[in-house]
Amino acid sequence: MIMVVGATGNVGAPLVRMLAEAGEEVTAVSRRITSAPPGVVVRQGDLGSVSFSGVASAFLMVSGAFVPLDDVLARAAAAGVRKVVVLSSQGVPTGRHPAVTEESVRRSGLEWTLLQPGAFASNALQWAESVRSSREVVAPFGDVALPVVDPEDIAAVAAVALRAEGHAGKSYVLTGPAPITPRDQAAAIGAAVGEPVRFVPQTRDEARAVMSGFMPPEVVAVTLDVLGSPTPEEQQVSPDIAAVLGRPPRPFAEWASRFAGAFK
Ligand SMILES: NC(=O)c1ccc[n+]([C@@H]2O[C@H](COP(=O)([O-])OP(=O)(O)OC[C@H]3O[C@@H](n4cnc5c(N)ncnc54)[C@H](OP(=O)(O)O)[C@@H]3O)[C@@H](O)[C@H]2O)c1
Repeated sequence: MIMVVGATGNVGAPLVRMLAEAGEEVTAVSRRITSAPPGVVVRQGDLGSVSFSGVASAFLMVSGAFVPLDDVLARAAAAGVRKVVVLSSQGVPTGRHPAVTEESVRRSGLEWTLLQPGAFASNALQWAESVRSSREVVAPFGDVALPVVDPEDIAAVAAVALRAEGHAGKSYVLTGPAPITPRDQAAAIGAAVGEPVRFVPQTRDEARAVMSGFMPPEVVAVTLDVLGSPTPEEQQVSPDIAAVLGRPPRPFAEWASRFAGAFK
C-alpha cells in the first residue's frame, strides 16, 4: 500500500488522485482529512504519530517547518516501509533553507527520493480574494520572474518515483517551463477569468506583514528574498520534470485556467 501524508495539500491531493487512477492501493493521511477519491482509505493523523503498518511506500511532506524527520523515518523503517518520496524545497540545494529534513532522509537507510520544487503556481491562490472582489493582484516584486511550478507536475513526479524503480537516491529540482513575473501571472489569471486583472505593486514591508499571518517568520524572510532577489540558479528552468515525465512542465497559464473558478 502507498501512504500519502499531506493528502489534502496542493501536491498531496493530485497525487492521491493519480495513484488511485493508476489502480494503486492508497491510504490518504492528514490531520483533518474527511474524504478522498473512491477506493482510497482515509485516515486522520499527524505525521509525527501516524502508523506505517502495512505501508510499502510513502509520500511525506513537512508542512512549512524545518524539522528533523529521524523519529518518523525510524518508525517507517521498523514497520517495513521500503521507499519514501519526500517533498523538500529547492531552497535546500541553494542554501536558503536548512538541510535538516533532507539529512534525516539521506541517513534513514530507506530507499528515498527528494523532490526540491521552486515556488508553487498555487501560491497565486493568495490573490484569489482580491481578484474576485476587485480584479486586482496586490504583490511585491512585480517584474521579478521565477519559473513557478504546477503542483500537479510535482505530484506526477512523486507518483512516478513511488511506482517505478530507478529513482532511489535521486534529488529532483522541479520548476515550471519558463520564468514568469507576478505582473504576467496577474495577466494570465485575467485571461483565465475572461476579464482584465490589474497588478498593484506592494512594498516588501507590506508583503511581510501579510505573509506573517500564515507563515513562520523565518520562512517569510527567506521567501521574500527568493521573490525579490532570486539567484540565477533560482531563475533557471530545471530539466528534471521533463526527464522524469517525458513531457515538459505545465505553464502557469494552464494552472490558471484549471483554477479559474477560484478567481471568479
Ligand atoms: N508553496 C511553495 O512555493 C513551496 C515551494 C517549495 C517547497 N514547498 C514545500 O511544499 C510543502 C507543501 O506546501 P504547501 O504550502 O503547498 O502545503 P499545503 O498544500 O498547505 O498542504 C499541506 C498538507 O499537509 C497536511 N499536513 C500539514 N501538517 C501535517 C501534519 N503534521 N501531519 C499530517 N498532515 C499534515 C495538510 O492537511 P491538514 O491540515 O489536514 O493536516 C495538507 O494536506 C511544504 O513542505 C513546503 O515547505 C512549498
